[in-house]
Amino acid sequence: MLFPEGVTIDGLTGAVTPATGRYVKKLSALRDLYERPEQVDAYIAAHGDVDAYDVIEYRPDGSDICFGTTIMYPGRIGREYFLTRGHFHAKTDRGEIYYTQSGEGVLLLHSRSGETRSVAMTPGVCAFIPPEWAHRSVNTGPEKLVFVWMCGIDAGHDYGEVATRGMRDLVVEQDGRPAIVANPKYRV
Ligand SMILES: [Fe+2]
Repeated sequence: MLFPEGVTIDGLTGAVTPATGRYVKKLSALRDLYERPEQVDAYIAAHGDVDAYDVIEYRPDGSDICFGTTIMYPGRIGREYFLTRGHFHAKTDRGEIYYTQSGEGVLLLHSRSGETRSVAMTPGVCAFIPPEWAHRSVNTGPEKLVFVWMCGIDAGHDYGEVATRGMRDLVVEQDGRPAIVANPKYRV
């Protein structure tokens, strides 16, 4: 039997108390998502294989819903920024919510039919991610980007399509500020 519980989320650090799990994504694991992977190699040669982002989960066994935080570290790779892998949901009729707590970033999305959208990730913005939209978060600021995610526990991740084809758009630094441009390497 499941019991109610109050879970504390620190919007600055992303700490979830109590949490049921956690994983860390190293920059090297994201190498081939960048338009110029050799720039990731150069970054790692200079700074080490740093943590790109952490995910902390509250995922109770037997529940239909779950939530947690993603803590994205700041960094630049060429004209791009630190980013998450990006995914569709394995269960295709499942959406998600991203509620930004601190920092600044961009949520990039594209639909299976090819439409593109973005949502600014600033504290207080709660992004609605409908089913059938691939989503990737990009930390465009100088501080950590911390957001709370909430979704069906069975939503799952389909990373394959984004890993193979890329996201349709990129967030890049242009004239000192983030801009959204078409991904020249997107594979239709
Ligand atoms: Fe998701």
